[in-house]
Amino acid sequence: MVSDAQFQPLSGYPAWSEEVMLQRADENLSHSQLRRTVRDFSKAPVADSIVEACLKTAMTAPSGANQQPWTFVWVKSTDVRQKIRGAAEAEEREFYSGRASTEWLDALAQFGTDDHKPFLEDAPVMIAVFAEAWKNNGGRKAKNYYVSESVGIATGFLIAALHHAGLATLTHTPSPMKFLSDILQRPDNERAYLLLIAGHPATDCQVPVITKRSYEDVVIVR
Ligand SMILES: Cc1cc2nc3c(=O)[nH]c(=O)nc-3n(C[C@H](O)[C@H](O)[C@H](O)COP(=O)(O)O)c2cc1C
Repeated sequence: MVSDAQFQPLSGYPAWSEEVMLQRADENLSHSQLRRTVRDFSKAPVADSIVEACLKTAMTAPSGANQQPWTFVWVKSTDVRQKIRGAAEAEEREFYSGRASTEWLDALAQFGTDDHKPFLEDAPVMIAVFAEAWKNNGGRKAKNYYVSESVGIATGFLIAALHHAGLATLTHTPSPMKFLSDILQRPDNERAYLLLIAGHPATDCQVPVITKRSYEDVVIVR
C-alpha cells in the first residue's frame, strides 16, 4: 500500500535547561501528590469556560490510530442529573446488598462508601465519558483500535486538567452503567466508560487515609 502520510515541522518543544526541566517536573509532581478523590462537594458553581478548557485538554490525548474514540457528555440538566442519581442509587443498592462479592465489599470498606450518591445532583460538574467501539463508515462498521486504553488516557488528561485548575474530582463507576447510555440517549456504538464528578470540595471535606505504593515497589529498572 502506498503511504499517503503528510508531515509538518514539530513545534512546542523548547530546549529547556535540565534545571528548568527538573523544576517543572518537580512542580508537577508536588501538585499531583495533592490530588485526592473527593466524595463531598460544595454546591459552589464552576465557570463553564474552565470545564470547557479541561475538556479540550482531554481531547489532546493520544489515541490508537488517532481515532479519538471518546464522547464526553457534560450533563447540565438538573432533571437528567436527578434521573441519573435515581438509576445509579438503584444499581448501587443492589450492589451493596448482595450483588458485590464479600471480597469486593471488603476492598471498598476503607472508603466508607455506600449506596447514597448525593454528589450526582449536588456537585456542579458531571461529565459522563463514553467509549466508541466503532464508527459508522458509510453504513460499514469500522472498528476502533485500543478503545479502552485511549479513553483511559483521555480521562486521565481530563482529571489532571481539572486538578490543575483547582477542582476536585471523583471517578465514579456505578456497576453496571448501561442506564447511562439509556438516559443520555447514546448510540449503540458507544458504551458508558465512567462518570466524572468535579467541583470544589465541601469546606469540611474529609478523605479516607490511604497509602500509595512506593517507587521501589512499582518502578523496575532493567
Ligand atoms: C476506574 C476507577 C473507578 C472508580 N470508581 C469509584 C466509584 O465508583 N466510587 C468511588 O467512590 N470512588 C471510585 N474511584 C476512586 C478510587 O477509590 C480512588 O481513586 C482510590 O481510592 C485512590 O484514592 P485517590 O484518588 O484519592 O488517590 C474509582 C477510581 C478509578 C480509577
